[in-house]
Amino acid sequence: MAGLKRKLKFLVTLTMVNLLIFILVFHGGGGQDKGHKKVLVPSTRFWSKLAPSQSYWNRQQQRLDLQHNPILASSNSNNTSHDYVRPVPDWLNDTGLNPDRCQPDYRVTTHVKDYNSLPPRFKDFLLYMRCRSYPLVVDQPDICRNTRRGKPFLLLAVKSLAPHFDRRQAIRQSWGQAGVLANRTVVTVFLLGNTTAVDHHPDLSEMLRYENDHKHDILQWDFRDSFFNLTVKEVLFQDWMTTRCPGAQFIFKGDDDVFVNTLRILKFLKGLSGPRVRDLFVGDVITNAGPNRDKKVKYFIPESLFVGKYPPYAGGGGYLYSGHLAGWLHRVSQHVPLYPIDDVYTGMCLRKLGLGPEKHKGFKTFDIEEKYRRNPCVYKGLMLVHRRTPQEMIQIWAWLNDPNLTCQ
Ligand SMILES: *[C@@H]1O[C@H](CO)[C@@H](O)[C@H](O)[C@H]1NC(C)=O
Ligand SMILES: *[C@@H]1O[C@H](CO)[C@@H](O)[C@H](O)[C@H]1NC(C)=O
Ligand SMILES: *[C@@H]1O[C@H](CO)[C@@H](O)[C@H](O)[C@H]1NC(C)=O
Ligand SMILES: *[C@@H]1O[C@H](CO)[C@@H](O)[C@H](O)[C@H]1NC(C)=O
Ligand SMILES: *[C@@H]1O[C@H](CO)[C@@H](O)[C@H](O)[C@H]1NC(C)=O
Repeated sequence: MAGLKRKLKFLVTLTMVNLLIFILVFHGGGGQDKGHKKVLVPSTRFWSKLAPSQSYWNRQQQRLDLQHNPILASSNSNNTSHDYVRPVPDWLNDTGLNPDRCQPDYRVTTHVKDYNSLPPRFKDFLLYMRCRSYPLVVDQPDICRNTRRGKPFLLLAVKSLAPHFDRRQAIRQSWGQAGVLANRTVVTVFLLGNTTAVDHHPDLSEMLRYENDHKHDILQWDFRDSFFNLTVKEVLFQDWMTTRCPGAQFIFKGDDDVFVNTLRILKFLKGLSGPRVRDLFVGDVITNAGPNRDKKVKYFIPESLFVGKYPPYAGGGGYLYSGHLAGWLHRVSQHVPLYPIDDVYTGMCLRKLGLGPEKHKGFKTFDIEEKYRRNPCVYKGLMLVHRRTPQEMIQIWAWLNDPNLTCQ
């Protein structure tokens, strides 16, 4: 929070300095040409009026921007005569909100134009869009403290679903093995929500408890683990990171159906220096994308929810970033409304920080050509491939660790 405050303070200072220069220039000019030129004072507002967006997410972002705008906030307190500097235009007035943000927000039923005709997943998303905290039911409070050699160098955070026991076990036995790897401390956690009865999932809670009693690497929150709630998982993980693992130098966050060449990643990270260590965010970057308007597609987003382009974002299959940036993402995400697609959301948060993800060709979230898939040497140079079965993960990891493997 302190960092953000500094940033805001800086913004305010910058505005003041600009104003001062403006006044100086005006005065200076007036002094030289006394009597010739008149000082022109704009008689009406010279900035464009903030118009309400028709799209719900955009409107929520406008509201947050306005709420956290330091210039408007300060002009509010000592500016009474200019009634056009209204702190909150009527259309942004949010007073009807239930103070408990995790109660369903039924106002969306009227605030979103076509609410009633939207598919159920959108209704669920919209009703709970303001809720960002769910109980952590399985925690690993000491996982980043109990390492043999101090703070983790690399934290692997794997998005998983309760029934994916075999994927998690394959990851533990291959690319996600915790401990010391290539002389660096690696910690692995699996991020889980609840596979609920609402979605007709069998009750696996006892198996999950057994798994965690033996492996101690599960984080589980009590929310419905659905595709549109992956952003919830992201912000909950950010919260967890800042309290339980703030010292991690780098974080890999990805899916449980990817193969990650952890050795290659460690080598890459060891070679970094300077500001890249601090600001690193690499992955398979998608640029110039926008919301998909095809109703049949998983990524469909209606215009009543969002309009505009997506910022550059790293595909959610897996990306790598610095612990320093993790702290910044956690802070800035409070100023970005939840968006139903988690990797786009992270891109939005990066953009809000004035940053963007960096593309690295070692991240193959759209897989590699068929003919290379069984070539061990190809994997040597890659960081991530999507997607691989548990058996393939173990096979590829064995290839990479075979001392007899010789590649050109
Ligand atoms: C918002 O609207 C309510 C009534 O709908 C009104 O009482 C309140 O003063 C308004 N707040 C602002 C900041 O305009
Ligand atoms: C292992 O890492 C430590 C620092 O974490 C370093 O001091 C040491 O030299 C490294 N050892 C080898 C063999 O690279
Ligand atoms: C999550 O699972 C537990 C145990 O199965 C259940 O008691 C709880 O109601 C579930 N939470 C949700 C949000 O469905
Ligand atoms: C997200 O999780 C909450 C809490 O379990 C649930 O009420 C909501 O319906 C879920 N949203 C989606 C889109 O599944
Ligand atoms: C490596 O090659 C040697 C000689 O061909 C063989 O004895 C050994 O078992 C091989 N090691 C592995 C890990 O395959």
